[in-house]
Amino acid sequence: MKILLVAGARPNFMKISPVSEVLSKNRISHKILHTGQHYDEDMSKVFFHDLGMPEPDIYLGVGSGTHAEQTGKIMIEFEKICFAEKPDLVVVVGDVNSTIACALVASKLNIPVAHIEAGLRSFDRTMPEEINRILTDQISEFLFTTCEDANTNLKNEGIPDSKIHFVGNVMIDTLLRFIEVSSKSDILERLSLKQNDNIKKYAVLTLHRPSNVDDAETLKGIFTALERLSEEIPIVFPAHPRTLKKIRDNRLGDSITKTRILIIKPLGYIDFLCLMSKATIVLTDSGGIQEETTILGIPCLTLRKNTERPITVKEGTNIIVGNHPEKIIQAGLKVLEKGIQRKKIPNFWDGKAADRIVKTIIK
Ligand code: UD1
Repeated sequence: MKILLVAGARPNFMKISPVSEVLSKNRISHKILHTGQHYDEDMSKVFFHDLGMPEPDIYLGVGSGTHAEQTGKIMIEFEKICFAEKPDLVVVVGDVNSTIACALVASKLNIPVAHIEAGLRSFDRTMPEEINRILTDQISEFLFTTCEDANTNLKNEGIPDSKIHFVGNVMIDTLLRFIEVSSKSDILERLSLKQNDNIKKYAVLTLHRPSNVDDAETLKGIFTALERLSEEIPIVFPAHPRTLKKIRDNRLGDSITKTRILIIKPLGYIDFLCLMSKATIVLTDSGGIQEETTILGIPCLTLRKNTERPITVKEGTNIIVGNHPEKIIQAGLKVLEKGIQRKKIPNFWDGKAADRIVKTIIK
């Protein structure tokens, strides 16, 4: 059996890592293909290093562009690879442009596609990722889900039961594997958040969704709210290149520098996991971080109107806040004062999702 494992953007790397490892353990021949959607050293290479993954076997180097340009370029390059490699199965993860581009190419060549993290829905079609999720699921043969609501979503879209496999969360496989290692990171010392074993209270922020950062007024509003919260607690902000550019374009840098919001470069997996696991509160618009904070028991304020991961609200530590400044301030102050009750760990978020996936593929 010849398998192509596809990754392209930052959140994909920690999802393919455990799958590649279990495939290797089972001596199943596979190649890692990196589309190059993310290409900066600190958005890509550092993850392969931190996760102990081999260099990608195939690198498409497509880079940035509009949605059509990026998706189209990946498709053109990936089709050539499919002709040359003739894989028996293409495995895609998550919901980025690389996911739909490669799934579409493979399915038209009648190569079966496995989609890891299938069935998540925000029911918000203005999100590019929602389009990627719906379409990828429609053309995949194996739909590996992280939670029961994803199974229901797929059934409601007419996907037969036989294609749906509830296996758990590969992102959590990686987190559980590296949490111990991450406790040895010196990131807290480097940011002066730890002295003589004393860890200061701090918040962590990530922000990169077009709906939050592309519109100047929305972005300014969010930073007004964050400035208020930073009076209570310092905020560490590893900034995505898209957001940094918008901060520069809108000349927000100077006013942010005067607050207790510390903008730093994007962090690698181990440093970020360490930073997140010791935080008092996390504010984010990322998808994966909503899941990771649920496992870590850290309160998470999601600065979006909706989530495709409702289990993190129902069972985890996540609160959907939106991006209105007053709402962010109120929710932030409340959590800082009262904390959040730790709820439960979702079913099958137990570090064995990749094992279940590979077992299903073998069967
Ligand atoms: C992509 C995913 C998003 C995911 C995010 C994680 C899609 C539609 N979006 O969004 O779901 O949450 O990755 O980070 O696939 N850039 C760099 N260096 C890089 C990569 C990007 O400077 O290595 C800049 C470029 O200006 C680029 C912009 O960031 O145009 C956006 O990159 P892109 O891959 O298009 O989308 P993300 O916002 O990263």
